[in-house]
Amino acid sequence: MDALEAILTRRSTRKYQAVLPDNALIDQVVEAGRSAPSGGNSQTTHFILITKAEILSELAWIVQTAFANMEIREDLYASLKNSINASRRGGYVFHYNAPVLIVTANKKGYGNAMADSACALENMMIAANALDLGSCWINQLHWLDEDEAVREYLYGLGLSEDETVTGALALGYPAEGLPNRTPLPRTGNPVTRISD
Ligand SMILES: Cc1cc2nc3c(=O)[nH]c(=O)nc-3n(C[C@H](O)[C@H](O)[C@H](O)COP(=O)(O)O)c2cc1C
Repeated sequence: MDALEAILTRRSTRKYQAVLPDNALIDQVVEAGRSAPSGGNSQTTHFILITKAEILSELAWIVQTAFANMEIREDLYASLKNSINASRRGGYVFHYNAPVLIVTANKKGYGNAMADSACALENMMIAANALDLGSCWINQLHWLDEDEAVREYLYGLGLSEDETVTGALALGYPAEGLPNRTPLPRTGNPVTRISD
């Protein structure tokens, strides 16, 4: 698969096999993330690679607890309200039981923190697709960046106090074979052309 095909056929995967992909494959995905461009070549995106099942379960529990205790305000966006409602019902697993979760963090107060991490996450999603792995951007840890219990737990996994959680990537073999590569119709993302 060439680069353009890997970009155009990438889709989000939300059901995973429990089997852990080989380390060599996971490392290729992480290296794709580490190879992303960064503002001023700062290279400050921190990748916390979690493949330990026990940690992934604990993290899911901590996230569910944090959301379940959160007030649903009118101004919250729909996906966040969904996470809160699902957590209140119980059994909410924000990372879809993927066998791999790669949390991205960056320096607090660094203006390109989110932009750099987004480049890294997109590189990893494209690499995953090229390697016949499924992946999905997972935003819950970013939303909970200021939650004390979540931060405390992430400190134990290597997050530094001067870092902000920018996102995460679920990664693994799709439950139903190869990744779903059916392109979504483009109904937005307008292009304005100015030409002769
Ligand atoms: C910034 C960002 C945050 C996202 N957060 C989540 C998330 O928390 N959970 C999830 O299932 N998908 C998440 N997604 C995936 C989008 O829902 C998905 O990309 C979109 O619906 C288009 O579908 P596709 O990726 O299959 O093309 C996120 C995507 C982006 C770019």
